[in-house]
Amino acid sequence: MCWKDCWTFKLEKAEGKETGMNYYILTLFPDMVLQGLNTSIIGRAMEKGILSIEAVNIRDYSRDKHKHVDDAPYGGGAGMVMQPGPVCDSYEDLCHRLGKRPRVLYMTPQGKVFNQTIAEELAKEKDLVFLCGHYEGIDERALELIVTDYLSIGDYVLTGGELPAMVMIDCISRLVPGVLNNDVSAEIESFHDNLLEYPQYTRPEVYEGKKVPEVLLSGHHKNIEIWRRQQSIRRTLERRPDLLKEASLSPGEEAYLKELTKE
Ligand code: ADE
Repeated sequence: MCWKDCWTFKLEKAEGKETGMNYYILTLFPDMVLQGLNTSIIGRAMEKGILSIEAVNIRDYSRDKHKHVDDAPYGGGAGMVMQPGPVCDSYEDLCHRLGKRPRVLYMTPQGKVFNQTIAEELAKEKDLVFLCGHYEGIDERALELIVTDYLSIGDYVLTGGELPAMVMIDCISRLVPGVLNNDVSAEIESFHDNLLEYPQYTRPEVYEGKKVPEVLLSGHHKNIEIWRRQQSIRRTLERRPDLLKEASLSPGEEAYLKELTKE
């Protein structure tokens, strides 16, 4: 059995159970996304049946005898444009199989920039479709017909939507209940409360002459909590001061921040 068969098996297994989230990726490069997501925490969540991922090859929906899916742009210009037929047909066939019409997220640098808040909102869905374009993009009519959300991963241009889809799937999945072992860890880290995460330390106690901060060895939980909040505030001020505008700080923490800005 090759990894593709395993995948089908996992998907079927997941369909039998109540999964937390089902992802469908419409792409010309199904191997790229499946292999990229089949490891570590996401791979394990799929084995447990919490997540399912299906890659739909848009090329399978070409009606051309050479399986073409792209053509030159009307009006001239460089590159090729993905034709609307195979894109829309791949989605319509999926909807027919599912008996519903899930949200379609189109990966594009022209979209809204993806962030933790968007991830939290998307994690509430049961099914998500990621549409990945290549070449010079997808015929506008297909986008008008099926896309519900235009999303980017940042202000730079990639060769296709597969990596952005993988980034978003990774981020959304860790918010799906049961994917992370530790329920609290999804909440406490960077961007919770709009503050960056505090620094972490593990054994050894001294490394290259650098000691772990004393408070973390004290066993005094309240002091550790205060120290960590202060470190988060300090770090956010140093590295991402733009986030502080939206952070919710206690009066004591506001005073601490004021002191820091004076330094
Ligand atoms: N496709 C190409 N570049 C992209 C980006 N930055 N974000 C999302 N999709 C893209």
